[in-house]
Amino acid sequence: MNTKTSFITLGIETSCDETGAAIYHQKNGLLSNALYSQVQHKAFGGVVPELGSRAQLERINPIVNQALQKAGISLADISVVAVTNRPGLPGSLLVGVCFAKAIAWATDKKIIGINHIEGHAFSPYLEFDVPFPNLCLTSSGGHTSLFLLKGFGDYDILGQTTDDAAGEAFDKVAKMLNLPYPGGPEIEKAASHADFKDYFHYPRHKQKTLDFSYSGLKTAVLYDLINQRAYDIKTKKFIGSDTLRDKVASSFLVCISDVFLEKLERAIKMHPEIKALTFVGGVSRNKYIRAQIEKVAKKYTLPLYIPSPQYCTDNAAMIAFVGNYKAMQGEFSDWYLDIKR
Ligand code: KG4
Ligand code: ZN
Repeated sequence: MNTKTSFITLGIETSCDETGAAIYHQKNGLLSNALYSQVQHKAFGGVVPELGSRAQLERINPIVNQALQKAGISLADISVVAVTNRPGLPGSLLVGVCFAKAIAWATDKKIIGINHIEGHAFSPYLEFDVPFPNLCLTSSGGHTSLFLLKGFGDYDILGQTTDDAAGEAFDKVAKMLNLPYPGGPEIEKAASHADFKDYFHYPRHKQKTLDFSYSGLKTAVLYDLINQRAYDIKTKKFIGSDTLRDKVASSFLVCISDVFLEKLERAIKMHPEIKALTFVGGVSRNKYIRAQIEKVAKKYTLPLYIPSPQYCTDNAAMIAFVGNYKAMQGEFSDWYLDIKR
């Protein structure tokens, strides 16, 4: 392979409860995208870090082999190993970073540490040619951010999570309602039974900045459940009716969505130069929120790009993609590459 003409990047993602490997070819694009999603956390209503890192250790080798096989190449054809090294669960991140360093060292490849959130922010480019500058709303289990993307790897953070991320709030409220992990899709389903209406008017935080805060909303839902005698504090279980559960889920979802819309509109007004909107991360799988953001995009006649579902939630394709442009920009890491929380 001639690395002077095109890079072939192996991307590795192990920041939380997904083990992913993908191959990105500088000229031909994404060649493969392999993923293993851990299911053992369901029983605990959330990710158990110790179980997560053990599963990463078991899966990493087979998943990387699967990505190479699907792409029809061998490790020798790879020029760069790009690996998520921040932010995430330390034990899980360590598995990916140690594995990436080991294979890169043994086969004499370059290595690049990738910021997971940058991966999400640029994930639309796996499928779309999104014009710069654009406004990107990233919403996942661990982060909610608004970015102004000015070029590949060139972005400003306009606002971010100050406490709980939106996805985390979905997961925690789902747990309060005895719904399984991950909570986002379950809340969406329950809310659809209540027609996505706002029954309980949970508080929308009124910060002047573009930062996001969702821990107050989570607490408001809990107090409301207790007030409505629908939550047993001793057993920490929902004891209300199915109808109430659906109404709470619906009110919660509308509240999350309203906050997104308010921040988005404010950011659009502050940055009239933007040419497009994007919505990325696990929460962007939510069809109700997608539809609301679509309305904002129409109002400001901006094109809206949302990745296909497999690129919304955690995946290695987005890590390989960022690795590819960093390699093209000559931004490599050294052998001291470490994890950051
Ligand atoms: O991006 P992601 O896979 O992982 C992180 O980087 O955290 O996002 C996972 C989050 C979980 O909190 C999950 O509940 C949420 O995305 N999620 C959803 C939906 N599907 C996944 N949230 C709302 N509605 C959905 N349909
Ligand atoms: Zn993520």
